[in-house]
Amino acid sequence: MRILEATRENIALAGRALAAGGLVAMPTETVYGLAANAFDEVAVARVFEAKQRPSFDPLIVHIAELGEAERVVAHIPPAARDLMAALWPGPLTLILPKREEVPELVTSGLPSVALRLPASEVARALIQAAGTPLAAPSANPFGYLSPTTAQHVAAMLGERLDYILDGGPCPIGVESTVVDLTGEIPLVLRPGGMAMETIAAVVGRVELFDRSVAQPTSPGQLASHYAPHTALHLVEAGGLGRARPREGAVALCFDASSRRALAEGSPGLYAQLVCLSESASLLEAAARLFSLLHDLDRDGWSEIWAERLPEEGLGRAVNDRLWKASEK
Ligand code: TXA
Ligand code: MG
Repeated sequence: MRILEATRENIALAGRALAAGGLVAMPTETVYGLAANAFDEVAVARVFEAKQRPSFDPLIVHIAELGEAERVVAHIPPAARDLMAALWPGPLTLILPKREEVPELVTSGLPSVALRLPASEVARALIQAAGTPLAAPSANPFGYLSPTTAQHVAAMLGERLDYILDGGPCPIGVESTVVDLTGEIPLVLRPGGMAMETIAAVVGRVELFDRSVAQPTSPGQLASHYAPHTALHLVEAGGLGRARPREGAVALCFDASSRRALAEGSPGLYAQLVCLSESASLLEAAARLFSLLHDLDRDGWSEIWAERLPEEGLGRAVNDRLWKASEK
């Protein structure tokens, strides 16, 4: 494996490796993806093998231009067209009826396929260089935290791929929002980097998949996912002071004011207090989430105690990831 700076020559080199059936970790605006030619079943199988991912988990197909959608999906309903026109390129994945040519392995046998046009210019240049849509899950071992830097990928999967294209830290930091458009009402299967409010402004009505009433159809909905090795406990906003952490635990506060309240109200309860965003920015909290959890996981705290963020905008995606990472 080699880490490549994202120069034009290196993007061409990585594109050739993909066209020849190789695996390349690519930066996107959300998280790093583990990419393979979406139409090459053997290459896609190597992605599952590298991630040790159960094959029932379908992958997202990434395209570089709107016109490529027809190579992957059989039919684009009006709501999907509106979302593509308004919000692509961006952190939004659409579930649409698949074309027959898309391998069953990519969709885990589902009649639908996940499609995304990323905002990252390096990602789009790589797709173009490969000359084919790329199937890419997040570049982490199954069930572990997603990578937001090339170094995260190298540490987790380094020996299992051909190249890591280094595009620097991912600016959004949580995965794309997944919206199912195969039913009557657009359904958010996974909250993510595109706020639900923004999606609703385009299509009118959108519903959030409720895991308490329905069976998960998308493994991103599995309760235990994106988890660090250190036990993580999630409490309500402002609830960290009432928790009973073990000795040597770290508190993950939302912002500086919450950290200050905890330091003054419950001195010594935690060995360390950190916050996701000093200035209470949901955007910054999302961008730092996985990176901070990777760091805390390495630091060897006895436990991580986190508080919920406001359930709005990207706060919804952060809460979703914290909940999935937490001990139930
Ligand atoms: O931001 C992202 O989406 C990143 C970057 C690399 O693009 N990718 C990513 O991929 O997060 P992955 O494989 O970790 O998550 C894909 C999600 C999973 O929750 C999967 O179950 C869901 O999309 N998905 C894929 N195809 C689906 C389908 N046909 N129906 C329902 N859910 C699907
Ligand atoms: Mg993932």
